Amino acid sequence: MSWYEKPNGIYGNTASANFEITLYKEDTVRIQVSRESKYSPNPYSVISGPVQIQFNTLVESEKIWIKTSHIHISVNLSPFFLTFLTPSGEIINQDDPAFAVSWLGTEVSNYKKVQPKERFIGLGEKTGHLDRSGRAFTNWNTDYFAYGIGDDPLYMSIPFYIGVHSGLAYGIFFDNTHKSVFNFGASNNRFIYYSADDGDMDYYFFHNDSVSKIISSYTELTGKMEMPPLWSLGFQQCRYSYYPDSEVLTLAKTFRDKDMPADVIYLDIHHMEKYKVFTFDGEKFPDPKSMIKSIKEKGFKVVVIMDPGIKTDKGYLPFDEGKQKDLFVKYPDNEIYEGQVWPGWCAFPDFTKPDTRQWWAEKMAFYEEAGVDGYWTDMNEPASWGQFTPNLINFSYEGENVSHRKARNIYGFQMARSAKEGCELQRPEERPFVLTRSGFSGIQRYAAAWTGDNVASEEHMMAGIRLVNSLGLSGVAYSGYDVGGFAGEATKSLFARWMSIATFSPLYRAHSMINSSDAEPWAFGEEVEEISRNYMKLRYRMLPTIYSSFYKSTKTGLPIAQSLAVGYSHDKYIYESAYENQYLFCDNLLIAPVESHKEITKVYLPAGEWYYLFDNQKYKGKQIVYQDCPLNYLPVYIKAGSILALQSDVSYTGQSHNGILDLHIYAGKEASTYIHYEDDGISPDYKKGKFLKREIIWNTELKTLTFSKTEGDFQSKFQQVKVYFHGIKTESVLYNGKLKTPEKEDFAFLGMLTDFDPLPENRFPYLEIKNISTFTIQNVAEAFEITIQ
Ligand code: NOJ
Repeated sequence: MSWYEKPNGIYGNTASANFEITLYKEDTVRIQVSRESKYSPNPYSVISGPVQIQFNTLVESEKIWIKTSHIHISVNLSPFFLTFLTPSGEIINQDDPAFAVSWLGTEVSNYKKVQPKERFIGLGEKTGHLDRSGRAFTNWNTDYFAYGIGDDPLYMSIPFYIGVHSGLAYGIFFDNTHKSVFNFGASNNRFIYYSADDGDMDYYFFHNDSVSKIISSYTELTGKMEMPPLWSLGFQQCRYSYYPDSEVLTLAKTFRDKDMPADVIYLDIHHMEKYKVFTFDGEKFPDPKSMIKSIKEKGFKVVVIMDPGIKTDKGYLPFDEGKQKDLFVKYPDNEIYEGQVWPGWCAFPDFTKPDTRQWWAEKMAFYEEAGVDGYWTDMNEPASWGQFTPNLINFSYEGENVSHRKARNIYGFQMARSAKEGCELQRPEERPFVLTRSGFSGIQRYAAAWTGDNVASEEHMMAGIRLVNSLGLSGVAYSGYDVGGFAGEATKSLFARWMSIATFSPLYRAHSMINSSDAEPWAFGEEVEEISRNYMKLRYRMLPTIYSSFYKSTKTGLPIAQSLAVGYSHDKYIYESAYENQYLFCDNLLIAPVESHKEITKVYLPAGEWYYLFDNQKYKGKQIVYQDCPLNYLPVYIKAGSILALQSDVSYTGQSHNGILDLHIYAGKEASTYIHYEDDGISPDYKKGKFLKREIIWNTELKTLTFSKTEGDFQSKFQQVKVYFHGIKTESVLYNGKLKTPEKEDFAFLGMLTDFDPLPENRFPYLEIKNISTFTIQNVAEAFEITIQ
């Protein structure tokens, strides 16, 4: 047993292995343990290295101490095991001293003691409860049609979880791309562990004083999303598949005729000739360019599916080229590996090879020429019929040459990367949009994610919310589920509820399977159509808030749909099965998702004070309330003291609003800041300073609403601000040295439903906030303040 200091930590050998402890920053430490003489790190996920920090190393008989301002690590030398403590000496996390890091054959594991009342959250796209205690999960990217709500593994692997106990929180990112297992106390009462089939024990340990800081540090390491195009935050309509072209044109027209705002239409696999990627079916889509042009004139964007499988047909250019340039995954004897997918027998581009990614990106010129705006990378686990890819096939893995065992989990991630790079290559003047099914830690840098082939059921609707919330805890802020359910048929009420819940999902996309009934928002009768329209309109009115929240997330890595475990990590109620689906959307809206057949539900309001969004009923936090939840009113609350920015109705994100930013401010004990963000919504120019940012601070106590100066080179599209005062008496407003009298109006977040004949049973009254004071400021270019009197 020996050890040595190095610039950012220590390294040495245990009885059977080498180890290295590297401080990345005050709250982030990397632990590597290997039996090999050289470590074999994952080159894909981590994009930032250690920074120089202050730390101390101390030797104490059998132990070495490494201390930063946030974490104290005690390294026990013989046997080798680690304990992570706070600077005041509380144990955050500790190896099981007997097993710590150990091997079973090539399988490497790290065993950890369970701390009192410890909970485990995150781990990406995993089914089950918010608190993952008592279950084990496998990371092995899998194409899983119509998965059950407890099934595992699914399409994407993110080996990062957060542990919460005794007022403390920490994160662990096990950076090993082999098939891995996280056992949070399943079938044993001694430890939790994570293990991988092969490779090193290579993990990052994060500790800071909140779950949000831990997510931020994890995303500093693995990257944060970039600003997506604004159009991708609108409503997206998908189906397997819309064809022929006339159907796509009718679809676009119907959205507009019915006054239902929408931005995106997807072309699923039937757009291709015999499912061959980089083709259009000449009969179904004889003139894709004209079709795309004409739906674009209505304000739509077009996203096409791209599957990795390349049909092994001689004469089919992508196959011939890929073969000739040696870009496909191969057997060890150099023969091209073939698996069956939609086109029949296929070769698979090796996306772990830079040349392949570049070639694919170049091939995307085919879609660019047709006018396609975004890409949907599907089947990239990679999927093939039989769902059991032989392990011996070879992947480049950036030149390391590894087998499927090491490369599978990274494949979809690298396909999404190639697609994003393709967008940038083909249309550098616009931001990329890629939606992926498969991925690995770091995927947020390249793509949004959706939760694959869900089912049209109430349980699936709720499970999807947990999946999205869990992805958010794991660095993937931009994700969603198929609204309405992919497999099976949604009932009317299920569809209506799903549309309303997904209004508050980062990605708002409806999709349904081949041979199922129509599943557009007007396909379920008039009442569902009206409910859907109401929520779609609300989504579009919330765009200033949503866009600003995306901006914030690009800086912090924090989720847009934020499990209550982020802000209320140590409140035991939020983990109860009745409340675990609740989340905050864009920081201040508390969404309490509920099944469609329920007319009343229990909601847990965490600490603070809350207003029921639709009628301003005020509640104290830390209590359970009974909330009516008729189909047209989803339980949504807003945090007291907060600001909600809305705009006027538009039919699509690119349409001009009326230039008035509606600021709803809610009285509360604490002041709050809303960072308003704008840019052109489409180009990457915001990276060069073409954006607008300003702080808007609302302080109920001082009764002031303060607008900072604007920052950045972008000219705001809002010339006026109209303030709505909620929960606060507003006799007059002091602005620019003058006292003004506010206006009064009745305000509703959702439109009224038509009185259908016969009237639906238990018709719920229309909710409106009566007589609300408003005040409009005409020119908001400069910094200013208003005071309520
Ligand atoms: C599987 C995807 O999960 C689904 O969304 C898509 O419609 C089908 N593949 C067909 O492309």
